[in-house]
Amino acid sequence: MSTLITNVGELVTHERTGEGTTRWAAHDDAAIVIDDGLVAWTGPASRAPSADEVVDAAGRAVLPGFVDSHAHLVFAGERGAEFAARMAGLPYSAGGIRSTVAATRAASDSELDTNLRRLAAEMLAQGITTFECKSGYGLTVEDEERSVRLAAQVTPEVTYLGAHVVAPEFSGDHSGYVDLVCGPMMAACAPHAKWVDVFCEEGAFGPDEARAVLAAGRAAGLTPRVHANQLGYGPGVAVAVEAQAASADHCTYLTDSDIDALASSQTVVTLLPGVEFSTRHPYPDARRLLNAGVIVAIATDCNPGSCFTSSMPFCVALAVRDMHMTTQEAVWAATAGGARALRRDDVGHLSVGARADVMMLDAPSHAYLAYRPGVPQIAAVWTSGQRVIRSRHGD
Ligand code: NIG
Ligand code: FE
Repeated sequence: MSTLITNVGELVTHERTGEGTTRWAAHDDAAIVIDDGLVAWTGPASRAPSADEVVDAAGRAVLPGFVDSHAHLVFAGERGAEFAARMAGLPYSAGGIRSTVAATRAASDSELDTNLRRLAAEMLAQGITTFECKSGYGLTVEDEERSVRLAAQVTPEVTYLGAHVVAPEFSGDHSGYVDLVCGPMMAACAPHAKWVDVFCEEGAFGPDEARAVLAAGRAAGLTPRVHANQLGYGPGVAVAVEAQAASADHCTYLTDSDIDALASSQTVVTLLPGVEFSTRHPYPDARRLLNAGVIVAIATDCNPGSCFTSSMPFCVALAVRDMHMTTQEAVWAATAGGARALRRDDVGHLSVGARADVMMLDAPSHAYLAYRPGVPQIAAVWTSGQRVIRSRHGD
């Protein structure tokens, strides 16, 4: 069945550049035709072809669905008290991860699955049509395996993050834990995953440990991504670029040579402004990255510790207001940028032939995502051409 969405006030499509990426593109008074799950036509509303079904956007904006390239959704428990203590002045420390590990290990598969699906549904309602999901709160072979297995039931973008922190049982034995991560845990998890990730940071894993994890991941058929330079300067970005990682994530503390290395690589920088909001850490310097020509994505990093939001519109608003990205840069980063960070060319844009993952806002332009922060504005969502979220106005 074909669907024509017409009278679109602003249709954000992005366009291919020929270098394997896309740049911002948007059209006023436009229309889009979806057929067989794909974008079949875009152009002026006055020249729109007929279709089986017509949706009148009545001047509202239509965009590609958001692509969230960084989220940790397989966990149990919550850390609201830790957040409250932080807001009262205590610092964020990655050590809080261990309290979620204890709750996750104690949870049944069905509790983890219920939590995961609830968060995935929250994301969809906020326009996220593709999301990545990491393990990393199990840290035993069995608990990491079930984390990636459950994640694989809700998304193809599954990341094995056994190297999130050293498991509590191995606190005096880093190298024993790295051997486990690279050996039996990798063997159990790799069949369910596409990506391997490591938290390369003081207090988590050092550069040689990170290299070992990423190399073992490559050998098992996984592509690297890295949590890098979140809490301080360090080797994470260099390790990511050297490993030809799809993405280096966080990237708050960067030297000039980190920036140069990123700019001359294919590694995307995924910025996670919800984390800085929720930890009161300084925001990364997005302008410095963009001015150097680095490819920038924005993602939620939805997790129970450093940032418990599933709202990409909120992250776009923060990127614009607090990281000084333009509204176009932020929306590109949350759609096409996320797709690039996941090495996907079928999503994150609405060129003819793209997957018909589409959202309609209750607003006339993309800028409203930042202009009206905190206001629910996702009127409708289609995934592969199927309408999965209906307008609050019933149309
Ligand atoms: O992306 N950086 C490491 N991991 C998460 C935090 C997880 C937690 O605190 O539970 C992050 O911020
Ligand atoms: Fe993360």
